[in-house]
Amino acid sequence: MIVSGSASQALGAALAAELGEDLARVEYDRFADGEQVVELPDCTGERVVVVAATPSDEAHVQLLLLQDAAREAGAAEVVTVLPYMGYARQDEAFRAGQPVSARAVARAVSAGTDRVFAVNPHEEAVCEFFDVPATSLDAAGVLADPLPADLTDPVFLSPDEGAVDLATTVRDAYGRGEVDFLEKTRDYDTGEVTVTPNDVSVTGRDVVVADDIVATGSTVSEAVGVLDGRDPAGVYVACVHPTLAGNALTKLAAAGVDAVYGTDTLERAVSEVSVAPVVADVL
Ligand code: R5P
Repeated sequence: MIVSGSASQALGAALAAELGEDLARVEYDRFADGEQVVELPDCTGERVVVVAATPSDEAHVQLLLLQDAAREAGAAEVVTVLPYMGYARQDEAFRAGQPVSARAVARAVSAGTDRVFAVNPHEEAVCEFFDVPATSLDAAGVLADPLPADLTDPVFLSPDEGAVDLATTVRDAYGRGEVDFLEKTRDYDTGEVTVTPNDVSVTGRDVVVADDIVATGSTVSEAVGVLDGRDPAGVYVACVHPTLAGNALTKLAAAGVDAVYGTDTLERAVSEVSVAPVVADVL
């Protein structure tokens, strides 16, 4: 049985269809004081797959409630799929006195499940923070599907060295094109992102900026800024997790991005393609 978090209902339905499993009709509610409550149908003896992205504190709490409800409803096994793992970017204490937040949430999630699958967590190493077996899944390949089929001599550009593998995976799935990368620094006090230009030749070519997450849009818009004056044919953005906080989409449009393509790890207007087949493969 597939149990979706309220932020992952489309993905839960796609996964249930992909696997031919029942999709639980979950009730999401709140008590008068604002605290959340969920309700699941009976699932005695079943394997319950809880699919819940955790982009907010509220979603984190809801995931813990869903896991516990699954046990209460009789699940024989609880498998947790984190389409987007919140707090994963805080995988170390950046300053004395700060927590390793990814570890803190991983421990909490571990308490209610037998195993975890996390789709493109920011660093694969966060899987080691779980107290149960945890595996990262690479869904970047599905990002080739929504790209226009007729890209002109495409360059798949990673905004920093960390996303080169991801850009390469998208390029390989697309079937042709060059991969290049820029260098990025982020000031953790101000959040300001600086991208150093390189000599990538883009004139008359389509550019696909590929990254794992587009959150504030600063990284990608700075990367696109590097192309100013070089006359690319078109500029596209492909990301696994379209967090798109605040005015990110406006920022990208203002930077000259023609289209943004994301997956349904986070359900947004740009979630053009599903990671359900990638998740279904391991279940
Ligand atoms: C960072 O290393 C990630 O790969 C992304 O580049 C980053 O999380 C994007 O964040 P933002 O959109 O806020 O710049």
